[in-house]
Amino acid sequence: MNRRKFIQTAVASGVLMAANGISSIANADETFFEGTPIFKPDIKTVHGKKHTPFIDVPKKVKAGEFFDVRVITGYYHPHPNKVEHYIQWSSLYIDIFEAGKANFKATVSNPDVIFKVKIDSKGKAILRAFSYCNIHGLWLSFPKEIEVI
Ligand SMILES: [Fe+2]
Repeated sequence: MNRRKFIQTAVASGVLMAANGISSIANADETFFEGTPIFKPDIKTVHGKKHTPFIDVPKKVKAGEFFDVRVITGYYHPHPNKVEHYIQWSSLYIDIFEAGKANFKATVSNPDVIFKVKIDSKGKAILRAFSYCNIHGLWLSFPKEIEVI
């Protein structure tokens, strides 16, 4: 199995194996990122809506050209932005690789960030985002599949 096929298979089966410290992101109840439990995307509860990152990205992008990926935490329901409770950072993964990470300061920055990224190879890619709340931990977005043409 070549590397790309392995990644596609891993994504299809809901399990991503390891590159930048993610051991797996299948069942969040049982998965960890550098020792921190990962919460699955949840837009059925207000608590989940406050923490689940939202990814805004075109469905199709051109290989080798930069495009915008907007990651918003608080999209489904506003999250507090106070010194004692705020979103500390968000990161974006393309397939299993971290494409970018943004740190936020309580009260002065909003966890709404645009990453400019590119993918050189044609085909499908899966984007995922993480957001970290200083009180409620690490949350995963729903995956977004895009086509690179
Ligand atoms: Fe929180």
